[in-house]
Amino acid sequence: MSAAAPRLPDFFDLIAFTRIDSTNEEARRRALAGAREGTLVWALEQTAGRGRRGRAWQSPPGNLYMSLLLRPGCPLETAAQWSFVAAVALGEALAGVLPPGPAIRFKWPNDVLIDGAKVSGILMETSGGAATVEWLVVGIGVNVLSAPAEAPYPATSLVRAGAAAASVPAVLERLAGALLAWRERWLSQGFAVVRAQWLRFAQGLGHAVEVRLPGETLCGRFAALEEGGALALELPGGGVRRITAGEVFFPGQRRVD
Ligand code: BTN
Repeated sequence: MSAAAPRLPDFFDLIAFTRIDSTNEEARRRALAGAREGTLVWALEQTAGRGRRGRAWQSPPGNLYMSLLLRPGCPLETAAQWSFVAAVALGEALAGVLPPGPAIRFKWPNDVLIDGAKVSGILMETSGGAATVEWLVVGIGVNVLSAPAEAPYPATSLVRAGAAAASVPAVLERLAGALLAWRERWLSQGFAVVRAQWLRFAQGLGHAVEVRLPGETLCGRFAALEEGGALALELPGGGVRRITAGEVFFPGQRRVD
């Protein structure tokens, strides 16, 4: 590793790499080998970084790539709330490194935007099958120095948004602290406190959105975030569709298929 070693709370067991295929893949390998909850895999560069919906996640040096291993031992529906736990933690961490001004918003379910452009993405992967989730990997990418020029959405980086001195280790330290704090709130107070924070910074709530699902695209109004985290989409012809997985686009947003 050439970056300064970050100092993380004891909850975390930091495993650092200069380069790796995917921190999610490494965390999954370690989960299967019995690694403890709190194992945090961090790499300066990924050669096969993956994003949601089977996309690749460009992973040059200069950005943050990390995956946190959790052992929630709860049903999948509850473990899925981590998507929002991670998003609100990211929002807090990024606000801590940005100068006042740029607006941080959350795009359902778990993207973090700065002034409408994506700065961070979250990819969660779990053990499957059982009634309770044995392990959960929360993979987080943050564009610190650079953002992809060609993406299916507008993208930005912390440096472009004004955090000229932001460093990957500093962002990781803040993020680890925020993840731990929000994990504790979620465990002690439940999802409501996470949901409330997410809603404070929700992008597009109450407005028209397009939701792309496998095999269909729906247009409607982002009416609410349901108690469990589903998006309630009010359809033009009446009725509400409950969306648990899909990709949201806002009117006028550039889209590349
Ligand atoms: C998205 O498509 O928005 C999710 C992107 C998640 C990327 C991160 S980078 C660290 C971790 N390792 C991966 O291979 N993917 C996630």
